[in-house]
Amino acid sequence: MAESLETLREEVLDRIARCATEPEIEDLRVEYLGRKGRLTLLLRGLKDLPPEERPQAGERLNQLRRLAEEKLAARLAQVKAREKERILREETVDITLPGSRWERGRMHPLTLVMDEIIDVFLGMGFEVARGPDIEDDYHNFEALNMPKDHPARDMQDTFFVSQDRLLRTHTSPVQIRVMESRRPPLQIIAPGAVYRHDDDATHSPMFHQVEGFMVDGHISFADLKGVLTHFIRRIFRPETKLRFRPSFFPFTEPSAEIDMQCVLCGGEGGKREGSACRVCKGSGWLEILGAGMIDPQVFKFVGYDPERVSGFAFGMGVERIAMLKFGIEDIRLFFQNDLRFLRQFV
Ligand code: DAH
Repeated sequence: MAESLETLREEVLDRIARCATEPEIEDLRVEYLGRKGRLTLLLRGLKDLPPEERPQAGERLNQLRRLAEEKLAARLAQVKAREKERILREETVDITLPGSRWERGRMHPLTLVMDEIIDVFLGMGFEVARGPDIEDDYHNFEALNMPKDHPARDMQDTFFVSQDRLLRTHTSPVQIRVMESRRPPLQIIAPGAVYRHDDDATHSPMFHQVEGFMVDGHISFADLKGVLTHFIRRIFRPETKLRFRPSFFPFTEPSAEIDMQCVLCGGEGGKREGSACRVCKGSGWLEILGAGMIDPQVFKFVGYDPERVSGFAFGMGVERIAMLKFGIEDIRLFFQNDLRFLRQFV
């Protein structure tokens, strides 16, 4: 017994010394000191020894058990300390490395252009008004001199919400809403989203317009020309030429469509290069605005006396202006949220 205990002692100490990890130490503890561990079983077997041998054998066994417990605890502390050292050594943070940066957001190109347009008009004394995206038939059509069966309604493919409610097809109804609630003098722009059943490279079912109008005792077509010329020259180049062509809108009389010199060929039409300019298709001009003198019929709808007031109105597409300004060829790029596109604008 004494001899075998001595062998066991050596074996236990040797195996503890060779443990390198926490799980190994735990396995060893279970193997010797667990409920069915070898030392535990030996202690339990004491009762089978002759009575005279029990005290000595018991004492030596208990000594060995305590020794094993101590050595296991010491080894565990050692292994843990080594692991901590290793982590500190290998998993250090290099504080000289550059940190990860916050990415900087940018304005959407349409916001940039919209802000610029508004800014130019604020500079001329206009104020900003807004109206609802969901309009009624009266404000979107009727009061703008487009009765129910008017063919001009076909020009605008309308999204109806109900019999009488629709997504506004233009920002012109804001003219009506402002004039209904206020008296001249008025000098207003109305920016906002508009909706038409249309979808291709140059038409989007939702797009943006800026409407503008001015009403007072003696507003003339010359005022219209002055305001729009200044506007275009501020948004594009200061020497840009404009061309006013006769046109038709139900809510203006006379009406005009306004062209500006092509942003790409500068009005040359590409003739010098021998091939038609890609942007203006060779004409040298780009249609950019609709405008006119507010129709007396419209004044009657809002309760103004056409004998005593006059005014001009105009409307423009913001996407079109942004496309010309930045050389963008597909309107859908504005709404696809492709960061490679959006990152190009500051
Ligand atoms: N409302 C027109 C449209 O959406 C644009 C327009 C043309 C507005 C002439 C006007 C105007 O105020 O005078 O096509």
